[in-house]
Amino acid sequence: MAVAVTKIPAELKSKFDELESRGKYPKRLSMLVPALHIAQEHYGWISGDAVAAVAEFLGVPENYVKGCASFYSMFFMDKPGKYVIQVCHNATCQLLGAEDIIAHLEEKLGVETGKTTPDGKFTVLAVECLAACGRGPVIQINNREYHENMNIRKVDELLETLK
Ligand code: FES
Repeated sequence: MAVAVTKIPAELKSKFDELESRGKYPKRLSMLVPALHIAQEHYGWISGDAVAAVAEFLGVPENYVKGCASFYSMFFMDKPGKYVIQVCHNATCQLLGAEDIIAHLEEKLGVETGKTTPDGKFTVLAVECLAACGRGPVIQINNREYHENMNIRKVDELLETLK
């Protein structure tokens, strides 16, 4: 009898199992986004292995997983830098100076928006609304740290803290 080959490493499988054991998801597919977060945390990005593991866990085709992950800016379809700097460039933040901040980051770090510096340290992304429109421009680091009311001086101070 053939032995089923799993694409899910044991450590990741136990995190998926913990997600499922919460009992919060009425349908298996409801776990797609949280499972992607867990896989990204495990692999550092939505690599081919991450896609395969999530697809196996949920019992859906890999293209379905890729289609969902590529829709959201919080999922990285390419290996990102150590620090992912997401700058909101939606309407309010743009009116408050987001484009100047993006241009400053590109010049200071020597990288185009959407790309990673050659040393692998920084990825700069222009993203849609980060949900703090009244306190723009808004920057988010690694999908976790939030920085509001930003300006060029504050951006320079922030970069100094990212070693
Ligand atoms: S427009 Fe930037 S946070 Fe909403």
